[in-house]
Amino acid sequence: MAPCNSRPNLEHAPVAAGRRELQTSLNRETILEALRTKHLGRPLIILETCSSTNDAAARLASDGEVHGLTVIAEEQTAGRGRFGRAWSSPRGGIWMSILLRGSYIANAWDSLALIGALAISRSLISELNVVARVRWPNDVLVDDRKLSGVLVEAKSKGNEPDYALLGMGVNANFPRNIIRDAAPFSTTLQDLLGHPIGREAIICAILSETENLVDLMLSRGPSGILELLEKVECSRGKSVKVKLQDREISGVFDGYDGLARIRLATGSGLLETVETSSVVLAEYTGA
Ligand code: BTN
Repeated sequence: MAPCNSRPNLEHAPVAAGRRELQTSLNRETILEALRTKHLGRPLIILETCSSTNDAAARLASDGEVHGLTVIAEEQTAGRGRFGRAWSSPRGGIWMSILLRGSYIANAWDSLALIGALAISRSLISELNVVARVRWPNDVLVDDRKLSGVLVEAKSKGNEPDYALLGMGVNANFPRNIIRDAAPFSTTLQDLLGHPIGREAIICAILSETENLVDLMLSRGPSGILELLEKVECSRGKSVKVKLQDREISGVFDGYDGLARIRLATGSGLLETVETSSVVLAEYTGA
């Protein structure tokens, strides 16, 4: 496999989206006509603006909305990322939250962020030929720059999981330099491809990939997901500082130990196992 920072091969990228006049607002009918899922994206709510699609979806979940409900916003005024970070969400991005319930979360709870990142990576590769790779625990990178992230927020009822919200953000049709406090290691699809893309097709692809991956997780357990993850994974060999509740570990990402744990090679020559769910902060050197 080519290294994580290899340039995407864009020779075969569809050009139609760049050549024709693109709609600036999402077309709900186009999404519904192309959608091939059983549950995800049904129902589909598209908002002009909201604080965070995870907030909007949480309200609907509390009102009893069904597994699969998806909320998309043209813009978020208080988008959030993992580890309490703000997530800049101007118009032109893909800001979306999927409501998952029942067996879909009971057996995939710890792995949802990685499954979401894998779904985004696979969709961008298949739809745009963009070499998008997954970096533990929840990032999608192109050329070592962050293009997309996943935020999972969950609610329990007593001791049982009630629902999970799979929040996904993809920097799409805007230039990187309009992101507030743009990190030096971020990027957008428009910057990578040189033109805006049709977001509807990407949204459909992400919903289908997510549904298929969650089904795969339920039918085969983590092994099927891990096989797919290995093809697009780019964390291995990177230096990362991981903060847990009670201590900090710095090391080099060595690999996955199932989907819910990773191995870090520490300076002392030891391999430490880290539970992803207990990570308070993960910071990669240089990103
Ligand atoms: C991260 O990389 O830290 C995760 C970013 C997740 C952003 C998405 S955009 C849709 C959903 N709503 C939010 O407020 N956050 C997620």
